[in-house]
Amino acid sequence: MAIISSRERSPESPLDASEAGRGLLQPQAQAGEAQEDSLRPRTLAEYIGQTELKEVLSIAIAAARARGEPLDHLLFYGPPGLGKTTVAAVLAAEMGSRFYMTTAPALESPRDIAGYLVRLKRGDVLFIDEIHRLPKVTEELLYPAMEDFRLDITIGKGRSARITSIPLERFTLIGATTRIGALTSPLRDRFGQVQRLRFYEPHELAEIVLRSARLLNTSIDREGAEEIARRSRGTPRIANRLLKRVRDYAQVRGNGHISREVAIAALELFQVDPMGLDWTDRKLLTLLVEQFGGGPVGLETMAAITGEDPQTIEEVYEPYLMQIGYLQRTPRGRVVTPAALRHLGYAGQSPPPLGN
Ligand code: ADE
Repeated sequence: MAIISSRERSPESPLDASEAGRGLLQPQAQAGEAQEDSLRPRTLAEYIGQTELKEVLSIAIAAARARGEPLDHLLFYGPPGLGKTTVAAVLAAEMGSRFYMTTAPALESPRDIAGYLVRLKRGDVLFIDEIHRLPKVTEELLYPAMEDFRLDITIGKGRSARITSIPLERFTLIGATTRIGALTSPLRDRFGQVQRLRFYEPHELAEIVLRSARLLNTSIDREGAEEIARRSRGTPRIANRLLKRVRDYAQVRGNGHISREVAIAALELFQVDPMGLDWTDRKLLTLLVEQFGGGPVGLETMAAITGEDPQTIEEVYEPYLMQIGYLQRTPRGRVVTPAALRHLGYAGQSPPPLGN
């Protein structure tokens, strides 16, 4: 499988800069994390977790292969770090197809997307990350390309302008987004399948950590892997990142082996708490409790009190806090749950300090 890539990294949020253990729990890919590639599964059989999704995809692959046809266009959505890119690359590999990878912000002008489309051969997979960020003109070029495998180019301007159509090979477009609600319906409707990636269960993450440790030649036992898994916010990218940092710790402070005790000591040092909450999560929950009696509070207010932008709160922080039952969305706003209060140490006494 050929992988041809052009990606742009999103800038870190300003809050990260003041944080100890900075970036460790951010689900977005960090600069210099390209070696993450070496840990990615290459086949569906190697892929751990997302069981229902794998089943649906293996049926689509088997059916398309039996018919000798390319896969239908697919859209993946879900929080960052759950493997949307990985699944797309696995699909291409399973189909024996070439994999072209780009991201919507890199497709500024129609020329950029046209450059990809005309190069595609039958069955090739074009992966567009953050597809909700496509400029309108680029998105509109995709409609006939996806539907009729045709590239419509406007030549000339004003009254003499005319449209020329270029036939395209039958390719597969795989889109990925953290914000399914931000996609226009004409674009969403052109995907044959729309699939959500969910957070991973701790036992699935523990398997991923064990697999990655094997690939990294790192000695670890199941309890050590489970401790890393528990603190990884249901996100493989975070689990692999924590594994690497715990490996460093084990090498420098221990004998290189990652046991439960070593994992706990390392993760406490990096200020990753036992539920995987970081400084921003704790600050968010604490401020909601202290300034708003635990809610309900609107998204804009949450953004204002934390200094984060609303989108980051909605896409990065909230999904995990809701998943573990620490935050609930109600029609009147977000509410902190009793489980979160217990975790933060509000058991009727005074709240704990925010710390650093
Ligand atoms: N590495 C990252 N995500 C993975 C997954 N889902 N399965 C196996 N290894 C992984």
